[in-house]
Amino acid sequence: MNTNYPMEQFKMFKNTITRFLMAYKFALDEMETKIEILKEEFHLLHDYNPIEHTKSRLKSPESIMNKVMRKGCDLSLDNIRNNIKDIAGLRITCSFISDIYRISDMLHQHHDLRIVEVKDYIKDPKPNGYQSLHLLIEVPVYMSNGLERIFVEVQIRTIAMDFWASLEHKIFYKYNEAVPLHLLQELKSAAESANALDRQMERLHREISEIKEAHAEAENEQLKRIMISNQQFQIPAALLELIGDVGDEKK
Ligand code: GTP
Ligand code: MG
Repeated sequence: MNTNYPMEQFKMFKNTITRFLMAYKFALDEMETKIEILKEEFHLLHDYNPIEHTKSRLKSPESIMNKVMRKGCDLSLDNIRNNIKDIAGLRITCSFISDIYRISDMLHQHHDLRIVEVKDYIKDPKPNGYQSLHLLIEVPVYMSNGLERIFVEVQIRTIAMDFWASLEHKIFYKYNEAVPLHLLQELKSAAESANALDRQMERLHREISEIKEAHAEAENEQLKRIMISNQQFQIPAALLELIGDVGDEKK
């Protein structure tokens, strides 16, 4: 009888936490909708998408329990709420570093969100080379019993940063956290290469954008306004010249 007790307790805890986790799922849904709107708006207005893809995840009850035990706090919901701030996680992958800050700025403008903490591991990479921008955000969720503010950890990074982080994560777990020194050194150097690539891509991207803008301006300047039957039309100057020439020939 006694031997079943911890299992029963675990089952009860699992049910309670499943209900508790619902609010975190809603907070993630809310954030994903916000990101989806930003994405569509950008695509429609600027014909450009700063977001490559997004991925969200909820920590499992088991992994919450492990983290609570690692941190040495009691298994109460209040303790979990206040100590485990990455139960809901959203990862946004962008093409360019400037997009990361652009998305972060846009999220800062949402007045319903409270940005609790910003960790800029791009300006100050971790000693192992890890880079990303982390935002800890409090998201309002309206439940049947009132408003709850739920923490969501948002990680914004480039494709290169993401590539590096997933490999580092795999290596870290494969070696059970005791990674051989030569691999740590190689990882650090790979992080530097990834960063050099990011900076090079950013420069290219900026150059291409400037060329595109210059082209658009030149095209705009080359448009001439003409009136036909009291209606205004904009047609390229070159075409107007051609029409003029044809007209001259007919004379
Ligand atoms: P945790 O207790 O690990 O959540 O620490 P923290 O809240 O101080 O963490 P921080 O904001 O620095 O990082 C949180 C999350 O960022 C981790 O859960 C990872 O997803 C990611 N992360 C941070 N550092 C690294 C790293 O060195 N390598 C990889 N692959 N991911 C990292
Ligand atoms: Mg964390």
